[in-house]
Amino acid sequence: MYSGTSQILRSRAELDSALEALKKGKLKIGLVPTMGALHEGHISLIQVAKQHADVVICTIFVNPTQFSDSKDLEKYPRTEEKDLKLLNQIGCDFVFLPDLKTIYTQDHVAAKIVYNGLDQVMEGAFRPGHFDGVVEVVHRLFTLTDPYIACFGEKDFQQLAVINELVLQHEMGIEIIPCPILREKNGLAMSSRNERLSPQQRADAAVLCDTLTEMKGMTELMNPDELAQWGRDKINSQELCVLEYLEVCDSKSLRPVYRWKEADEVQAFVAARFGEIRLIDNMQLKP
Ligand code: PAJ
Repeated sequence: MYSGTSQILRSRAELDSALEALKKGKLKIGLVPTMGALHEGHISLIQVAKQHADVVICTIFVNPTQFSDSKDLEKYPRTEEKDLKLLNQIGCDFVFLPDLKTIYTQDHVAAKIVYNGLDQVMEGAFRPGHFDGVVEVVHRLFTLTDPYIACFGEKDFQQLAVINELVLQHEMGIEIIPCPILREKNGLAMSSRNERLSPQQRADAAVLCDTLTEMKGMTELMNPDELAQWGRDKINSQELCVLEYLEVCDSKSLRPVYRWKEADEVQAFVAARFGEIRLIDNMQLKP
């Protein structure tokens, strides 16, 4: 199928005719939704998708409805040419680059889910409406491309939980494959937003991963709430870093835990600002 060049699809008509050919060949589609400014983290998702599907479609769409801060949307890096080169190099079969009108048609009705509290904590609490925007666009991309599997990064752990709910509640029958976080040499979780960090901020931002790693090594010394406070103190002692939250939560419900025995899987989550740039990270603490 792959001819050496990623096929670029911009319109609904181009997408539909590509899909028709794939369906005729009974090929299983793997979907990797992104907002572009691709880095190795995104590429790893495409590699995982290749292992689970016959053809891979990567989508690049900077979705305005999931940004609560208009400045963040405006400054979000857009590097289309570089992205297409990268996708070509790794043999991604199709790249879907829709415009706003293709995603949000006039008769478009936003998909809704029951969050069961997932929108009340962490990213949900600090970015009101963010997950509504994510659900809306991911539902639309799923409906347009009808994939067999779709890959999402654990970097956005809460997003992954929300998307699992979307697929379950809308009975979409798509297997969601979680993919591990890829990190820079200093531990910083790869992110399109890292491009906007100064060299000093990039070095400072390693405190997020360092703190989570130290916390992972101290689970026998403290209760989860004490450990969370230890992490907050450590990050707050870093100059020029503004902590938004650091929580130790049940990996399933994403609610804070106070005793280790309350949950089988426990995860630490952090969000902090370095100047204008907001970064998130997380790490499994138990098991
Ligand atoms: P974006 O931030 O571009 O991320 C696209 C996918 O790449 C997400 O599944 C994200 O979790 C994953 N990813 C990002 N950094 C990663 C890293 N360091 N290691 C592993 N995976 C990583 O997430 C979005 O876009 C949007 O919300 C989207 C789902 C496309 C909806 O608009």
